Amino acid sequence: MEAILPDGARVHYRPLRAGDHGRVLRGIELLSHASLDARFLASGYRRERIRLDWLERLGRDVAVGACDPLSGEPVGLARYVVADADEGVAEVAITIVDAWQGRGVGTVLLALLTREAEASGITTFVGTARADNRGARALARSLGPPALSVEDHGVIEWSFAVRAGRASHPQPAYTAA
Ligand SMILES: CC(C)(COP(=O)(O)OP(=O)(O)OC[C@H]1O[C@@H](n2cnc3c(N)ncnc32)[C@H](O)[C@@H]1OP(=O)(O)O)[C@@H](O)C(=O)NCCC(=O)NCCS
Repeated sequence: MEAILPDGARVHYRPLRAGDHGRVLRGIELLSHASLDARFLASGYRRERIRLDWLERLGRDVAVGACDPLSGEPVGLARYVVADADEGVAEVAITIVDAWQGRGVGTVLLALLTREAEASGITTFVGTARADNRGARALARSLGPPALSVEDHGVIEWSFAVRAGRASHPQPAYTAA
């Protein structure tokens, strides 16, 4: 699938598979410490630990990724892990490489992930972010009003009803094929 971002750039995006190891590893290399800290809500995360964790999760979690069709480089990854199968609850995390942040990729991937989740019977997304993470807060708004939003010690926890129609960005610049 292809999306045209508001700045005119194109990205290709699709569900990730176990064979996408190389792209995931490359994506980790492209992340700044600030992005890793924002993603993991802590500083000093060791890249080696993240590599092992993300590769192990590749076959387990539901994940969607985007790449730059011009360079083939990865630009972002969104994933969820089922936290409570009986209740249909999944925990979501999104990471966009620094050069592509704020350009609409997170919105595209979250919309795709939401569609995948809804098709799999997931009814609730939960997630956490630093309270000062303006990008994550804005992105979360695309899921509609939270069922739960709790801020504690600089970390915000959300819960959202999963509705695929809501997560698709209203901007007409986005196209999918
Ligand atoms: C947070 C993150 C996932 C957002 O993804 P993104 O691709 O940058 O977001 P988008 O470009 O799709 O923008 C989504 C919304 O966030 C806003 N936004 C994005 N970055 C922003 C920033 N730094 N400051 C303020 N708003 C920002 C956009 O304006 C947009 O708002 P709108 O829908 O009202 O127009 C991404 O910046 C990232 O990976 N950061 C590092 C890791 C992280 O923090 N992950 C989240 C915790 S799991």
